Amino acid sequence: MIILGIETSCDETSASLVKQHPQGNLEIISQVVATSLSLHATTGGIIPENAAREQLKYMIPVVQEAIHTLAKPEESIDAIAVTVGPGLIGSLLIGVETAKTLSLLWKKPIIPVNHLFGHIYANWLTNTEIVFPALALVVSGNHTDLVLMKSHTSIRVLGSTRDDAAGEAFDKIGRLLGLSYPAGPTISHLALKGDSKLYQFPRPMMYSKDYDFSFSGLKTAVLRQVKEIKTLKSKTIADICASTQEAIVEVLVYKTIKSAKKYGVKSLLLGGGVAANETLRVKMQRALTDMHMDTTFFVPDRSLCTDNASMIAAAAFFKKETQPIEKITVDPELYY
Ligand code: KG4
Ligand code: ZN
Repeated sequence: MIILGIETSCDETSASLVKQHPQGNLEIISQVVATSLSLHATTGGIIPENAAREQLKYMIPVVQEAIHTLAKPEESIDAIAVTVGPGLIGSLLIGVETAKTLSLLWKKPIIPVNHLFGHIYANWLTNTEIVFPALALVVSGNHTDLVLMKSHTSIRVLGSTRDDAAGEAFDKIGRLLGLSYPAGPTISHLALKGDSKLYQFPRPMMYSKDYDFSFSGLKTAVLRQVKEIKTLKSKTIADICASTQEAIVEVLVYKTIKSAKKYGVKSLLLGGGVAANETLRVKMQRALTDMHMDTTFFVPDRSLCTDNASMIAAAAFFKKETQPIEKITVDPELYY
């Protein structure tokens, strides 16, 4: 079975072909991602209308490139999976209307996919040994969620952010330091040359009894520090980056391990753009090992952590809930 995935919820315009083998394992046949990040960098963040206009330019060429190896796509493709939310309404509509058009043309069903599940199911693209119960930490630009999965259909959100998401904290703090959008990758790169112990930034809600997160206080603490320093030299920026990353990672690891222990999960999954962060990946694995937990750690390849259409196709294989075309609508606020 081959699914064409389409993802346009925010910064990227992506199309992928993903195949499921008879044994159940998934294989990415093609993945094309056109990013609008350089455009958003010029404005210091996303202006929704600009994002959609840019994606409109990319959408058709991206799909064409993803399916160009298929002589007769209408014969090889079994279904079309598309992100219906959460995301920017104009951006989502571009992907969904494209999926509907192809569905009518090729007479193929559409599987609407929640972007957040896409981030979780990115783990299934490269791993076949994931067992339930599983705990997923979804860390993206807008979400920081701990999701307990007892099966593919039994899902419970244990906690989420009360204000800024982890990715948002990276991006906003980066902006304070004069770094361009999105700042997460730059902060993690600059942090390599910085001292992570130099600034003791707060670890918000680390010891709260629930599984929620909060990162806006961290941003305020960094702002205060930056104002105190006045002129930022590159060594100071590196130290602030390292100390910021340390604070975010420490909270994410502490609360994730705490809930993994409490619910006795067999698998721990990371997903979302922030899951590409090397320090987070290393420290999460180390914490599991140090605690001697019987939990296997899974994290998608770096290229599959940030937005892509392969993860949308992957989620569709497990959800398989097709819907008639007239019922499919976008939902910018969609949750689990
Ligand atoms: O999942 P994603 O690509 O898009 C959303 O669904 O939001 O996540 C984007 C977020 C941005 O905030 C970006 O700064 C962050 O992921 N990010 C990182 C890294 N790579 C991307 N944050 C920290 N370290 C990274 N290496
Ligand atoms: Zn995402």
